[in-house]
Amino acid sequence: MTDRLDTIAILAAIKSALPAELCTGTVALHEPRFGGNEWTYAKECLDTGWVSSVGKFVDRFEQQLAEYTGAKRAVATVNGTAALHMCLLLAGVKPGDEVLIPTLTFVATANAVAYCGAVPHFVDSDPATLGVDPKRLEAYLRENAAVRSDGCTSRETGRPLRALVPMHTFGHPSDLDGIAEVCRHFRLALVEDAAESLGSFYKKKHTGNHGLLSALSFNGNKVVTTGGGGAVLTNDEELGKLAKHLSTTARVAHPWELTHDRVGYNYRMPNINAALGCAQLEQLPEFIKAKRSLAKRYEQAFGGLAGVSFFTEPKDARSNYWLNALLLDREHADQRDSLLELLNKSGIHARPAWTLMHRLPMYKDCPAMDLSTAEDLAARIVNIPSSVVLGAADA
Ligand SMILES: Cc1ncc(COP(=O)(O)O)c(C=O)c1O
Repeated sequence: MTDRLDTIAILAAIKSALPAELCTGTVALHEPRFGGNEWTYAKECLDTGWVSSVGKFVDRFEQQLAEYTGAKRAVATVNGTAALHMCLLLAGVKPGDEVLIPTLTFVATANAVAYCGAVPHFVDSDPATLGVDPKRLEAYLRENAAVRSDGCTSRETGRPLRALVPMHTFGHPSDLDGIAEVCRHFRLALVEDAAESLGSFYKKKHTGNHGLLSALSFNGNKVVTTGGGGAVLTNDEELGKLAKHLSTTARVAHPWELTHDRVGYNYRMPNINAALGCAQLEQLPEFIKAKRSLAKRYEQAFGGLAGVSFFTEPKDARSNYWLNALLLDREHADQRDSLLELLNKSGIHARPAWTLMHRLPMYKDCPAMDLSTAEDLAARIVNIPSSVVLGAADA
């Protein structure tokens, strides 16, 4: 018989890592922190009337993002899903194509593929990174994909396999060298879903900067928030220009005429959101320091505990620890929900990983490789409070 998981000890370990004065009510999973120039910049928008789709904060935010990430071009959007949709369009994804994505991801990754009229093709996870497992993907594609001069097709469906979208789970960078190699060999466009990984680096290079294009999110639960928002990053000037054009309803620049040269999107970030973003980015190094110091405290608190481990940053990576994650030992997976119940009842907001994409009704018939590692991980992951404020005392 397996020993029961000591859920009370897990609750105590979490609390021991948190500042006692912040544990009086409910401790949120991830709440924003507005400790800088947010009020000043937002007031400036209201005072001047520049609240909508043009204004100096949009340009400034895009510049700050490009500088921080090292990308040549950043284009701010209304949210991360819109950014991902544009990345896929710009990477050449067409109706009837397939796009390889992890099954362990937030639904936006799969939805962005569907918005292009393409089909998600699900890929298994690497337990070392929680992201795409490039070795197993390569073995799978060797069996199941035909490489041609102009790309690669699925042997099973005959459809083009156009792109691979790794996602940096909970902010932890995927094995980007391995993934880039798979993309080179199978002629896939590499588009990173970096929605969760602002402030995370792989081999000293910022995530979202390792492929053709990438998408960031500034939703209220992310490291940096603009209320709602996202961005496309790219090192290709032409794609950067096109991203801006597409996100601005493909409007042709003219002093007074309103004309458009293709089907575009109203995906541009409003100035008032960008104003928040500028203030938030000024604090990003401090935010990351606080989040890493909270993670260190969790790591220590869970060091000697049986039945559970704290997930730490993968090799070659420096993570933003966006959402801290516990991994229950396999024999305790069946007690995950009783742990979640205890934590939430005790004022510690905790949740499991997302329902895997191939389990959702609209994606259940999509093509997939063996997904047993993602299934195993999803059954054992528990996300625990990760807000900047919880680590801020040490930062
Ligand atoms: C992995 C992933 N992809 C995409 C998104 C979409 O971002 P948004 O909510 O800004 O549309 C999110 C976050 O919400 C995410 O976590």
